[in-house]
Amino acid sequence: MSHVGTDDSMSDDVFEDDTLRAPAQHSAPSPTGYRDYKPDDTIRGIVEEDVPIHKTILLGDSGVGKTSLLVQFETGKFQAGNFSATVGIGFTNKVVTVDGIKVKLQIWDTAGQERFRSVTHAYYRDAHALLLLYDVTNKTSFDNIRAWLGEIREYAQDDVVIMLLGNKSDSGLERAVRREEGQRLAREYQVAFMETSAKTGLNVEAAFAHVARSLVAKANPVDPSRLAVRAQPSQEHRSSCPPCS
Ligand code: GTP
Repeated sequence: MSHVGTDDSMSDDVFEDDTLRAPAQHSAPSPTGYRDYKPDDTIRGIVEEDVPIHKTILLGDSGVGKTSLLVQFETGKFQAGNFSATVGIGFTNKVVTVDGIKVKLQIWDTAGQERFRSVTHAYYRDAHALLLLYDVTNKTSFDNIRAWLGEIREYAQDDVVIMLLGNKSDSGLERAVRREEGQRLAREYQVAFMETSAKTGLNVEAAFAHVARSLVAKANPVDPSRLAVRAQPSQEHRSSCPPCS
């Protein structure tokens, strides 16, 4: 199991070569690309020492919103226009309660840029869950999902929980990928699917809750109906993809 400690949070020492770092654009650059955002590496509100931590990794092309999704989940905020590419890798810890069960998620934010890919692969192997994002305004990021799923098959464990997320669903006219296309792809690969918005918060908690529920179900195989994707009520009829879960 991966360790939890204060020393390793958001460590970017895997990128010792300064030429690989994005130019410092802000006063307090962060490996996440978010100014002044430092993920919490402590488990809050946890007393059960024997509850395992589930390593959960955010994946997808650069700019699809991985860091934004994590920041929204962690802080409930969206920092518009505060973008610089993630150049490191690190984790934040979060406890999600599903059906009365506390699940500890250790959520890793990764750099989406191609040049960091080989480093990211090293983190797949012991991952319990993968949140794979594309940007609904960026068709290329959607087309690249097949390649991402190929890498996942190659580097991750066979039984890893995978969820596909179409992020930036708030984008209206800029949309380039229809919700149905995302649903179809998810169904083809037998993975769960939701559209999310790191900007408005739509389905952000729901996505992590679904992952947590899947992890619980995997550990205690019982009734598969508990795994139906539960999008936020206002979006349920459009976002959920029950056959995919
Ligand atoms: P890398 O670190 O390079 O892998 O990128 P990333 O996937 O972490 O993307 P990031 O979270 O840094 O977001 C990229 C840009 O998209 C930023 O300008 C964000 O403000 C914007 N963005 C992220 N999520 C959303 C969203 O849900 N809606 C809208 N409208 N913009 C978003």
